[in-house]
Amino acid sequence: MTRRKIIIDTDPGQDDAVAILLALASPDEIDVLGLTAVAGNVPLALTQRNARIVCELAGRPDVPVYAGSAAPLARPLVTAEHVHGKSGLDGIEIVEPTMPLQALDGVEFIIHTLRREAPGTVTLCPLGPLTNIAKAFLEAPDIVNRVQQIVLMGGAYFEVGNITPAAEFNIYVDPEAAEIVFRSGCDIVVMPLDVTHKALTTAPHVAGFRAMGTTVGHTVAAWTDFFERFDKEKYGSKGAPLHDPCVIAYLIRPDLFSGRHINVEIETQSDLTRGMTVADWWRVTKRPANATFMGDIDAEGFFALLTERIGRL
Ligand code: RIB
Ligand code: CA
Repeated sequence: MTRRKIIIDTDPGQDDAVAILLALASPDEIDVLGLTAVAGNVPLALTQRNARIVCELAGRPDVPVYAGSAAPLARPLVTAEHVHGKSGLDGIEIVEPTMPLQALDGVEFIIHTLRREAPGTVTLCPLGPLTNIAKAFLEAPDIVNRVQQIVLMGGAYFEVGNITPAAEFNIYVDPEAAEIVFRSGCDIVVMPLDVTHKALTTAPHVAGFRAMGTTVGHTVAAWTDFFERFDKEKYGSKGAPLHDPCVIAYLIRPDLFSGRHINVEIETQSDLTRGMTVADWWRVTKRPANATFMGDIDAEGFFALLTERIGRL
């Protein structure tokens, strides 16, 4: 298997953090070229800090972290401290990172990297609002055709919304950016709530992380313990949905997922349904397919992979 060169665009967020750890624990399959932080779960000042905390936790202070957009393209920022806590990584004591933030802007890093690397060899892995990706495409349209694939966490169809009755958080925060990305013509794979709500960290999974006896295992257990309270209260679910790690797991084991290549449009006009991913799952329209929208996951296989890889750190 050739190593996939990826850029992780992220708004850590406990689940983003576990996704980053999974990527850094999989060097045979994944070459992380850099992390670009975006405002989302918490403001940019915290997401760029948190991304560096995670790199240091993984023992990888060499991974460059860049700060991207502090606000959506055209709307005020909406954050999710009610889910992730004030720090964005609640569940552990926060220690400021010592590795530096890169001086280059995150959007410029995305553009420079896609222009430098051979066409079709870099995968973008957005785990938060799509502001950075959309800005890069607007500023440098020449890079769109150089993208190998976009594998993103966002949207919902049968599972409906988590921030409003109609919309999933990442798309809701910046629907205009999402519309640009979904209309870009790139090869897009979508990990919606329909899938991520089936990747629940049950008590045995959390115990498995803790039983590793490592700093990383203990930290992941503490994060998932904290992160799950919101979903348990809201959905009565038996664990925290590990949304963002599904993106990285797909790169390593695409066979763990199934979905359909369909048309997905983004609602940007209506206040009531802003940010809804209108997924033509039953192909009732003639709109051209523009994304592979995942619908199912082998949850046990996913957790077996995640536990094995986290156990390496
Ligand atoms: O709706 C879930 C998504 O929103 C996840 O990426 C989570 O980290 C937040 O960004
Ligand atoms: Ca995220």
